[in-house]
Amino acid sequence: MDDSGSKSRRALSFGARAAQYAEHRPDYPVEAVRWALEPVRDREQVRVLDLAAGTGRLTQVLLEEPVAVIAVEPDDAMRTELLNRLSGLAALKGTAEDIPLPDERVDAVLVGQAFHWFDPELALPEIARVLKPGGVLAALWNHDDDRVPWVAGLADITGTGVRYSERKHDRADLLPENDLFTAFSQRTFDHVHRRTAATLTETIATHSVTLVKDEQERAETLGRVRAYLDSTPETAGGEFELPLVTIAARVRKL
Ligand SMILES: C[S@@+](CC[C@H](N)C(=O)[O-])C[C@H]1O[C@@H](n2cnc3c(N)ncnc32)[C@H](O)[C@@H]1O
Repeated sequence: MDDSGSKSRRALSFGARAAQYAEHRPDYPVEAVRWALEPVRDREQVRVLDLAAGTGRLTQVLLEEPVAVIAVEPDDAMRTELLNRLSGLAALKGTAEDIPLPDERVDAVLVGQAFHWFDPELALPEIARVLKPGGVLAALWNHDDDRVPWVAGLADITGTGVRYSERKHDRADLLPENDLFTAFSQRTFDHVHRRTAATLTETIATHSVTLVKDEQERAETLGRVRAYLDSTPETAGGEFELPLVTIAARVRKL
């Protein structure tokens, strides 16, 4: 992750646009979620914690699976949006460094687009505490696929923090080493987000790198994004598919 804007400011920037976030961020491929849960799939009554659940983009995919879901999210605006959309869900206020659950409560902890915001030295032992033995920690990230030329052109304008093509894809970059966890593995999954020039501009407005800009700079960036999408053949003519790659990494509690 790059250092533009302070990390903690960016980590908690999303609540300012919670409704827009819920409306315009992509979901996750069900195959990635099933792969993440595969090591605990045969357990009785699998319980999953969606940590840093935001407005519930990953939670919604989890709720389609035969598992019980608990959400934890620190930002009140994001959690309120999640509860408006998924009423009846257990959604608790808390952070990865201080999870409001008892020891050995869940079979899996899934983290969508958020592990990079955690303090891993505190979060990994805390996640291990709430996991049952052999339980899974899996982190997922949706990346715009900037191996596609028009997507790379867009990334030049948005100044996105980490490009898929530049990500190192090693353990240290995804889920850092920790004595409490073993069996690291990772996979990528192709995914798409159906967008128009207008709705992709809205999506980009919910990226932390955009959210922490001052108002004028943000408007300028989004104006350039919209002009680019309106003048690029692949995106100018109505609905199109933004190509995404979902990176999933998982480890198991010893
Ligand atoms: C990019 S959003 C991802 C939300 C959701 N998981 C998704 O996939 O759409 C990042 C989320 O991480 C939350 N967050 C930031 N720092 C956190 C921390 N230390 N512990 C738990 N959640 C955190 C933010 O409030 C925000 O909702």
